[in-house]
Amino acid sequence: MAKKIVSDLELKDKTVLVRADFNVPMKDGEITNDNRIVQALPTIKYIIEQGGKVVLFSHLGKVKEESDKESLTLAPVAKDLSDKLEKDVQFVPTTRGEQLESAIKALEAGDVLLVENTRFEDLDGKKESKNDPELGEYWASLGDVFVNDAFGTAHREHASNVGIAKHLETAAGYLMDKEIQYIGGVVESPDKPVVAILGGAKVSDKIGVIQNLLQIADKVLIGGGMAYTFLKAQGKEIGQSLLEEDKIDFAKDLLDQYSDQIVLPVDCKVAKEFSNDAEITVVSTDEIPADQEAMDVGPETVDLFKEQLQGAHTVVWNGPMGVFEFSNFAKGTIGVCEAIAELKDANTIIGGGDSAAAAISLGYEDDFSHISTGGGASLEYLEGKDLPGIDSISEK
Ligand code: 3PG
Repeated sequence: MAKKIVSDLELKDKTVLVRADFNVPMKDGEITNDNRIVQALPTIKYIIEQGGKVVLFSHLGKVKEESDKESLTLAPVAKDLSDKLEKDVQFVPTTRGEQLESAIKALEAGDVLLVENTRFEDLDGKKESKNDPELGEYWASLGDVFVNDAFGTAHREHASNVGIAKHLETAAGYLMDKEIQYIGGVVESPDKPVVAILGGAKVSDKIGVIQNLLQIADKVLIGGGMAYTFLKAQGKEIGQSLLEEDKIDFAKDLLDQYSDQIVLPVDCKVAKEFSNDAEITVVSTDEIPADQEAMDVGPETVDLFKEQLQGAHTVVWNGPMGVFEFSNFAKGTIGVCEAIAELKDANTIIGGGDSAAAAISLGYEDDFSHISTGGGASLEYLEGKDLPGIDSISEK
């Protein structure tokens, strides 16, 4: 059954509680990547236009001790949101009590208020993160309806998403709905042929994703640090490249079972030191020198992956192809990003995390069908797991 979305709700003069994911990277109180805030705007604007009173909730970071409060306040997000919406966003520096309740009561149609970091409640028995029933019920009592737009938090069963939803009619926001359509679409009913590209440092972070995508995708192209455990499993010498010894058997089993589907790098960029300035050699993956480490895929691999992408109707990408933080080892990731961006007839999806950040920073954000705002949430969704934040949204 389909989930309710925000446009299914009666919003006029209603106090609309909205769970967003404003867990954005910050440095010295400055937001360093505002993508999650930008992606939350359509839902907020829609509720304003419909004459609802918007009460926003989000977590930020992990609040473990009193002193964390200073760096993990949502005050900078309220300011950024005010600028983006071109209207005052009232910030309430607390998560419960008289100040919050009277501020919400005083709201008028079209007003926007942001509640302080929901994880400040974690200082008192982890009430938010353990989905304390009293806290979810209390927050729900502050509004008339609930809109969950926090896909990034959908793999968590917390008071501010699942807890509130238990007590109010709940709809997906536009961002949540888009994530369900695209990431959920890959897992449930993808348009075939499907090509998955997986990268990142560790096999162990992606075990569930690899296993599930091998059931869905026609081809699974593997790059990044994790590829070298697979190459080792094929009996190749990988020098000083990343290796997870305890995952060699897992890789071997997959290579035996899915030899026609898995595609591995054929060349790579190697260096003696883990540094952007290290001397670089491009070698075949059959000839990685014993004293060198592979830090990016090479140009032949990018061409091979490009070939494999031709004709795909659905492409899902998660994880960089190399140490893309070092500009001299970013070409593989850039090449793959460009190759996917060029596919105009395919549904192209980036499953969040580093690859999403890379595509956006390279200026490709408009060239993909969807770039997920989820990190852990998109991985768990791609693993085929049910996400509690989505499950708790009311059915149509
Ligand atoms: C994320 O950034 O993945 C989400 O906001 C969830 O954050 P968490 O891992 O701290 O629960």
